[in-house]
Amino acid sequence: MISPEPPSGRPAADWNPDRLPPDVRGGRPTLWSNPRHRTAKTALDRLTLGHREVRDAGSRWARFGPLLSRLFPETAPAGGRIDSRLIHLPAAFQRKLLGSGRNPVLVKADHDLPVTGCIKARGGVYEVLSHAEELALAAGLVEPDGDYARLANDEARRLFGGHSIVVGSTGNLGFSVGVIARALGFKAEVHMSSDAKSWKKDRLRALAVKVVEHEGDYTTAVAAARAAAARDAKAYFIDDENSLRLFLGYAVAAADLARQLAADDIPVDADHPLILYLPCGVGGAPGGITLGLKLIFGDAAVCLMVEPVRSPCMLVQLAAGPARSVSVYDAGLDNRTDADGLAVAAASMLVARMIGELVDGCITVEDRSLYEWASHAWHEAGLRLEPSAAAGFAAAAVLADAAKAGARSPVIEAASKPGATHLIWTTGGQLLPQQEFDRVLAQARAPVDATP
Ligand SMILES: Cc1ncc(COP(=O)(O)O)c(C=O)c1O
Repeated sequence: MISPEPPSGRPAADWNPDRLPPDVRGGRPTLWSNPRHRTAKTALDRLTLGHREVRDAGSRWARFGPLLSRLFPETAPAGGRIDSRLIHLPAAFQRKLLGSGRNPVLVKADHDLPVTGCIKARGGVYEVLSHAEELALAAGLVEPDGDYARLANDEARRLFGGHSIVVGSTGNLGFSVGVIARALGFKAEVHMSSDAKSWKKDRLRALAVKVVEHEGDYTTAVAAARAAAARDAKAYFIDDENSLRLFLGYAVAAADLARQLAADDIPVDADHPLILYLPCGVGGAPGGITLGLKLIFGDAAVCLMVEPVRSPCMLVQLAAGPARSVSVYDAGLDNRTDADGLAVAAASMLVARMIGELVDGCITVEDRSLYEWASHAWHEAGLRLEPSAAAGFAAAAVLADAAKAGARSPVIEAASKPGATHLIWTTGGQLLPQQEFDRVLAQARAPVDATP
């Protein structure tokens, strides 16, 4: 996805992109340590949001369990929870990735998340449910501690049918929002850039979601969605760039992961750091998860945002600081990547401000490596990934190479501890149409200069 016109305006006056490492400006894979990183305690103490808000979000998910079980029977065995498996990678694959089989490598398999097959459901479904709850409580359709499964009944559908949900998306947030909105009876409208993947648009149209296409990039599509929602009193806008609800929906994933780690007897502490590779677009999903993990594990969770080499919007925003929004265009990059979910030129300022001192670092990865790791993940572990979702593998390899080359940083030190566990968050792909997945695998076999 590219935009001919950089949309974010002028760079911050006090920010000099020349201070970015040459590899970042040159679009080469980089391991970047966040200079604003603070201890988890210091950073969390400064935030207005913490354990209580994330716990409340977990309670809201739990209240909706019976409804989700009813709407999506595949979630019923887990009581309507939308959570993914924690997978242990085979030793040979670990060796291929890190150069040694010493440290376990886990996969948090959100590429196979129930209902939508992508991480964005954690935020998108949560926010639609939050809005539905608001409407239903106001209309007296449920009590706060009542039976939320009733919200699948005709009366609730009639209520929701008078309202619409509007969102701008690279594809997966729109799908997640569209699925739950339509299942509850809302009208749904998704704004996307014209070069977003056409199969993602078709999938939405099949759900009777209105898809509005825009010239320009993702930022343009979000702005258009915001404007469209503002014109309709019955429209509710889900703001991928600014939504606390989305952020909290994602944050709950940390508690799900903590339970799985405990069940598998995997320690997380100073001697056993957990190195997390989190694919990052606008930042909501990896940012919310970072907050949740730092609340639970403190500094033992080492959170790394993974971005395409030509779209490192969170890296440039964290480097520039929280005062003003900057974009990858301001850094001389073109936001061109085949990882459509990560093709974002300007990070969410809400997220950048929230996690600016929590994030340990960023890793940038080339498109070519996304295809290669998607192919390895399929052939060696049976994981069906879209390019964005393979970014965590590519990033782990970048970190391992940097360590091998003798680079030194707190992140490398933590990742090299004998007790460290590496965790790759795979974020989408299970529902890729076969033809699309075949294309991903074919790209991995293509000559180097044929990668888009
Ligand atoms: C597959 C995939 N991975 C990761 C992300 C990144 O999430 P966020 O944009 O919230 O940073 C997205 C966003 O759409 C995505 O579709």
